[in-house]
Amino acid sequence: MGPRSIISSGTGALAIFLQKLLEVDITTSDFDDEEVEDNISHNCRVNGISPVLPHIRHSWGDNFQITDPDWDLVIASDILLYVKQYPNLIKTLSFLLKSYKIKDKKPGSTGSDVQLPWPAFLMSWRRRIGKDDDALFFTGCKDAGFVVEHLGSRVYCISLKKTKNAEEDTKATI
Ligand SMILES: C[S@@+](CC[C@H](N)C(=O)[O-])C[C@H]1O[C@@H](n2cnc3c(N)ncnc32)[C@H](O)[C@@H]1O
Repeated sequence: MGPRSIISSGTGALAIFLQKLLEVDITTSDFDDEEVEDNISHNCRVNGISPVLPHIRHSWGDNFQITDPDWDLVIASDILLYVKQYPNLIKTLSFLLKSYKIKDKKPGSTGSDVQLPWPAFLMSWRRRIGKDDDALFFTGCKDAGFVVEHLGSRVYCISLKKTKNAEEDTKATI
């Protein structure tokens, strides 16, 4: 199974849950803020994850600390509250997905039957904000060259546009 990253992890609850459930290689990320990082580390430790999950401080739109992102799946939940930040968020997603180098080997299976393109951004979003505001995010993603798929239950998959052959090559079971 390939490495995954969770952006804007907040308390780290989703990352901790996924790591404990699936034992995936997860990196957390959130604002460039020491207290947020310390809080995620604390939550890892009290949940029996030691060493704590790797963490990258990153505010959307800023340069990432690394130049070669290697995460086949970028995951987030509940992050579309900040409408003015959508262009920065899309800039970060563009970097993470467009700089990813497709490898020969497909990411492995976790036993689920859900097929996802890779690299991909998987996001859940339920909160209601201003009418149609969240649509601005999805339009911005399409304008940036992404394909947006609603997988159901307000879970969205955002991935790069691909040629038909490339699409066959880069579908993997997560
Ligand atoms: C509502 S919380 C959701 C936290 C977590 N994803 C969850 O579902 O529990 C929104 C998260 O987005 C992060 N966030 C907001 N603006 C951000 C920005 N400009 N750059 C990076 N993270 C940001 C916040 O720090 C916070 O962790």
